[in-house]
Amino acid sequence: MTQHSGSPFTPGYGKKPLVFGGHETDLAELRAVFTTMDFGENHSVLVSGLRGAGKTSFLAELEDAAYEAGWIVISDNASAGLMDRLMDTTIPAEINRLAPRAGVRLAGLGVWQLNAQFEYVDRQREVKPQLRRDLVALSRALAGDAGILITIDEVSSGKVRLRELSKIALEVSHALKDGANVMVVFAGIQVSLEDLLEQEHTTFLRRSREVQFQRLSAPTTAQVLTDTAAIGGRTFEPAGLTLLVSISQGYPYLVQLAGDYAWRNNPEAPTITEADAESAHARAVQAIESRVISRVYSDLSEKDREFLHAMAQDDDRSKIADIVVRMGQSDQYVQVYKNRLIKTGYVQSAGHGYVEFSLPYLGAYVRRQLAGDGDDQPRSDDGWDEYPAPPLP
Ligand SMILES: Nc1ncnc2c1ncn2[C@@H]1O[C@H](COP(=O)(O)OP(=O)(O)OP(=O)(O)O)[C@@H](O)[C@H]1O
Ligand SMILES: [Mg+2]
Repeated sequence: MTQHSGSPFTPGYGKKPLVFGGHETDLAELRAVFTTMDFGENHSVLVSGLRGAGKTSFLAELEDAAYEAGWIVISDNASAGLMDRLMDTTIPAEINRLAPRAGVRLAGLGVWQLNAQFEYVDRQREVKPQLRRDLVALSRALAGDAGILITIDEVSSGKVRLRELSKIALEVSHALKDGANVMVVFAGIQVSLEDLLEQEHTTFLRRSREVQFQRLSAPTTAQVLTDTAAIGGRTFEPAGLTLLVSISQGYPYLVQLAGDYAWRNNPEAPTITEADAESAHARAVQAIESRVISRVYSDLSEKDREFLHAMAQDDDRSKIADIVVRMGQSDQYVQVYKNRLIKTGYVQSAGHGYVEFSLPYLGAYVRRQLAGDGDDQPRSDDGWDEYPAPPLP
């Protein structure tokens, strides 16, 4: 583990936390595959969930474990040109990394031209380049001691990208049929993964292990805060811990933000106090709004937003019947959007016929958007009020 002179908290997209809270079973079972090579139903994994809930961090946990077990790790995101990057850059680089260890075996596969040091030169001209062939060959080169982990992050809906992902899924499914030891993991928000499953060639993905990221439980949240601070050599005053758990609401990004601000309030003191937690409160919530909640909001369709606007008129939970009236739409129509939003994890049902916001602070954010002071920064008092720009003569 790295030594931390500063804060051990890791607020930021894709910043792997020092203490990964929750999903113990998923992690343990998937890690076991890397050492036992007993895949069971774990050839494909779909990781979905709220923004900032830890999907990318989860992929990083898997990648580290696979790498340690001697696997080839291919990780990329679903942006345009994925197939070419895999074929032209990632796979040649992996061949070169394997070169000293598995050189003779690589050369014997007849898929690539290698130099005398068994490094990648080109593909064999007479063979049509196909990802499936590369995967099968790489898997053979590992001789059954290890496999290939492919992680594809940021799966997003969008025709061109989905079509490319479906091509990759087809290649992986063929490689699996031909006996390659491959685990493929796709991560994205729930609606995007569902769109992916609707593509052709992705039927094998319906049998995937599904890992869904929501909030951490309250005890896990307390544990993450305590253990993270301990890595940095500090403890919590109980009241400080309780307040930070409440502020964060178990939302992973916010756990890191609130912990980080509290830590920095008085970094030399041995304990993190209630006053430190209080000082973190407003800043952490503001940061989560500008970094995460605003992104959540922009992921939503116009109709999804209308639904949330209708909800925001209530202080706590909302009656579906009221939402129907406020949206001026049919019952059925409103149900469709309700179900979508519940699946996405932003809304949850709250008793029969009621819904409420499940993402902490989303409700407050939507209310502020409606009040029209949404993403305005607080106006700074920089003296310009006295000097309005004069109209042109
Ligand atoms: N299990 C966890 N326990 C504690 N902190 C976590 C956990 N998972 C993620 N975090 C922290 O939460 C923040 C967001 O994590 P990450 O970037 O992995 O989220 P994400 O789901 O990939 O977000 P997005 O959907 O926007 O890509 C990071 O600061 C990370 O350190
Ligand atoms: Mg991510």
